[in-house]
Amino acid sequence: MVDVERTLDEAGLTNPHVREYVAHWANITGAERIEVVSAADDARLVQESLDAGELLPAGDGLYYSRSYFKDTARAEERTIVATSNEADKGIYNNWKPAAEMKPKLVELMTGASAGKTMYVIPYLMAPKGSPLEKFAAGVELTDNRNVVLQMIRMARVGVEYINDLGDSFVKAVHVTGDLENLGQGTPDDKRYFVTVADERTILHFGSSYGGNALLGKIAHGLRQGSFDGWKNGFLVEQFMLLGITDKQTGKKWNICGGFPSASGKTNLAMTLAPDALGDRYYVEFYGDDIAWLWVGDDGKLYGMNPEFGVFGVAKDTNEKTNPTAIDSIVPGTGAIFTNVAYNPKTQQVWWEGRGDKPTDLDGWEDWKGDVIAERTGDEVDAPWAHPNSRFTTTLANVPNVAKDFEDPAGVEIHGIIFGGRTRDREPLIRAINDVAEGVYDGLTLGAEATAAADGLEGVLRYDPMSMRPFMSYSEADYAAHWLEVIGRATKKPIFAHVNWFQRGDDGRFLWPGYRENLRPLNWLMQFLDGEVEGVRTPVGVLPKREELNLDGLDEQALADLDTLLTIDVERWQQEMGFREKHLAQFDGLPEEIWEAHRRVAEALEG
Ligand code: GDP
Ligand code: PGA
Ligand code: MN
Repeated sequence: MVDVERTLDEAGLTNPHVREYVAHWANITGAERIEVVSAADDARLVQESLDAGELLPAGDGLYYSRSYFKDTARAEERTIVATSNEADKGIYNNWKPAAEMKPKLVELMTGASAGKTMYVIPYLMAPKGSPLEKFAAGVELTDNRNVVLQMIRMARVGVEYINDLGDSFVKAVHVTGDLENLGQGTPDDKRYFVTVADERTILHFGSSYGGNALLGKIAHGLRQGSFDGWKNGFLVEQFMLLGITDKQTGKKWNICGGFPSASGKTNLAMTLAPDALGDRYYVEFYGDDIAWLWVGDDGKLYGMNPEFGVFGVAKDTNEKTNPTAIDSIVPGTGAIFTNVAYNPKTQQVWWEGRGDKPTDLDGWEDWKGDVIAERTGDEVDAPWAHPNSRFTTTLANVPNVAKDFEDPAGVEIHGIIFGGRTRDREPLIRAINDVAEGVYDGLTLGAEATAAADGLEGVLRYDPMSMRPFMSYSEADYAAHWLEVIGRATKKPIFAHVNWFQRGDDGRFLWPGYRENLRPLNWLMQFLDGEVEGVRTPVGVLPKREELNLDGLDEQALADLDTLLTIDVERWQQEMGFREKHLAQFDGLPEEIWEAHRRVAEALEG
């Protein structure tokens, strides 16, 4: 048995509640050693991982790792929210009684870290001093060193963040398990990813992939956070957050918004670099995946990014689509690439959409570690990188990170947008300046699923506010909570729905996307300020063609623009039937949401 007390003393971990929690789980998991980590340990831990072959060098201060090949994305069907109150059961949160799940996880975790080190990661999912600080602290226990390195990039890590917080911290236990014998995706699946939300306890067993294993990020930053937000009057959403400044007038707008995983949040928040669209606007990056929103004492709606880093999708990231992302993963940044292709001879990494595929195959290995030059038959054309391969880098590496990104006060939110991969029906942008209709629009967000979740790519499904995989309580209560929080703001944000993914009959994207997405966002800000009026339609206000800045837009996009700026009424009428069924699942949905639905439906009937 390890000497827990002495280890914690040496690490300066003084919070008695945390000490008790660490000792409790050290005993259950049977870890051989305990190590308390802080951001200052990064270089040493990186070296240990390199020595152990868990990380491979990918250039100067860049690293490569592979997760087990059956462990490359979030496993939604194995993800559960447990509480002691059945009223918390929703359609999407996979609710189970806490009394049933806790013993199960304890059993799975018992002795499961034998022979390993249990790392203690005290973290904060907020800038220090944030009004939401007491909901943002946590202590992850993990038996996986790579998880520690990723957490150091994705969260603020160190004992100083939790020593003074008493018992206001999330208990987040991660045990990797024997990945080769967990029956992933079979009827005998042994993995469980459980958030016991009313006890602020997270118990994840059976994965080392980021979305399942970095517990500060999704399990706490989204799932637990949204439950805490519901009980304490704030919102926690899978949202990106960016600021746009008009250099001519000095005016600044902050926009946040939800797109389902792998639908463009990171790209939107990062790629609108300072010089996008000429020199007039300055675009700042705040966050790419999570936003916590609250109403300040001054009645304004505020938002902040609780994360400290970016866990971005590698696929299609290149100098043209997202130069800012490329700049944030250059040598010296400490970035970690996971499940992309790798060349141990040259220490290069590559993924689909990175640029020209290397023609000299010498040394190249695919994401599983198989030698590309030895591929035969169908394998020859298989992707080199996993479609959900990722890069991890800290916010400070992002060239256009906002100057005030660490300001605990957060930023005022002026606009909230929703979007997803929708191949038809959804125009480029439609503005909604009614709170109930905006919330209704978020609740009926429909999109094609992506590779960020196992086995669902391309399936059309509703994903309310892009929170479907992270929902922690009932959808009806969630809707009511949104109406309550935004209702309290004295200055309401504008809502909008965007779609960068409409396709032509030939399957190509009609809108060039990426950096061009600043054009519709600018229009939205002008609309908010009454500088443009747009065209009123049953589903919101669309830009008039001449109101959009079209300077330098490519010929093809100009030709497709009319399609992007029109509403297919028949297709929308059909959609309203689907929405009705979707919303009817949510018992007790606020009447304002149904009224908004009926207003839109009636308007579509003309
Ligand atoms: P996130 O998981 O929501 O943050 O999504 P990402 O920004 O990481 O993007 C996921 C995938 O969508 C990547 O392969 C991007 O290259 C792609 N993507 C992002 N923005 C656009 C866009 O505007 N147009 C198109 N066609 N693809 C995009
Ligand atoms: P993202 O988030 O896919 O939205 O980047 C990570 C995840 O959902 O696994
Ligand atoms: Mn993302």
